[in-house]
Amino acid sequence: MNRPTILTGDRTTGPLHIGHYAGSLANRLRYQDSHDQFLLLADTQALTDNAHDPEKVRRSVIEVALDYLAVGIDPARTTICLQSHLPALAELSMLYLNFVTVARLERNPTIKDEIRARGFGRDTPAGFLCYPAAQAADITAFKATVVPVGEDQAPLIEQTNEIVRRINTTAGCAVLPEARAVIPKGGRLPGIDGKAKMSKSGGNAIALSASPDEIRNAVKAMFTDPNHLRVEDPGRVEGNVVFTYLDAFDPNQDTLAELKTQYQRGGLGDGKLKARLEAILQDLIAPIRARRAELVQDRGYVFDVIREGTQRARERTEATKRDVVSALGLFEL
Ligand code: TRP
Repeated sequence: MNRPTILTGDRTTGPLHIGHYAGSLANRLRYQDSHDQFLLLADTQALTDNAHDPEKVRRSVIEVALDYLAVGIDPARTTICLQSHLPALAELSMLYLNFVTVARLERNPTIKDEIRARGFGRDTPAGFLCYPAAQAADITAFKATVVPVGEDQAPLIEQTNEIVRRINTTAGCAVLPEARAVIPKGGRLPGIDGKAKMSKSGGNAIALSASPDEIRNAVKAMFTDPNHLRVEDPGRVEGNVVFTYLDAFDPNQDTLAELKTQYQRGGLGDGKLKARLEAILQDLIAPIRARRAELVQDRGYVFDVIREGTQRARERTEATKRDVVSALGLFEL
């Protein structure tokens, strides 16, 4: 039975949060049964905008691996591997850079937005500008055809496929498959302050390793409807972070629909609503936190998972590199 290959991953810049859970981890748990899944700990890519702090990037490799295992990623079914220890990814990146122009890299909407947001301007690190080619190498090295990513990453998959087509045209054969981005429907989970992006650095995230108190305080601080002052007042559901989170995590969506109606009519207080969300998040995170605490005691096991996964990934990515070199007709020794 030939199952489709999935490659996806995360930059190692810190522990993962519940936005990652809603957006990608929950899907990855499901894919374990239906797909040949590889998860990349993208430490090299993390360096493209964190070169000043390699220590954070190194430390976060373990943090992200712990999060994967704690939510139930099973290393027997999913290969967890480390980008910096897969030389074929770097080698393919160098090859691919010759199949993309600087102008095209600069036009990539993801890159363009991030360069503007960070105020890089002319001082954009070259590695950062070129990371779409490196991400194309990540994806194609595994010959992945399915790439589950957030909406913001869609232009990277598009650019990957452009590189694939150029290489296939030059090679005169379909040495690399094109990949399809799978974007989760709910969209990105906002931060607890209602800002579009949940991030640890933004101080508006709930980590998967959050303590019961951290969860309680985060829900307490959560943005609702600023005009919903008294319980009797009608309240807004749109843009109300508590409802957005309930949409993502409430196992009982029928009751949730009733609560929305009641809130809009007036007569449902924020306190009651927040108590419901808090209980749901405490239930979601408690087993993850417990499993994580066990795994932290057994770092040798976590290292073994990464080492073995990387070994498996090395064989696969080396094979692709040889295929590409040979298809392009470059010198082989
Ligand atoms: N760019 C992704 C992120 O921001 C991480 C990543 C690196 C990735 N290589 C990838 C995702 C390949 C999907 C496929 O987290």
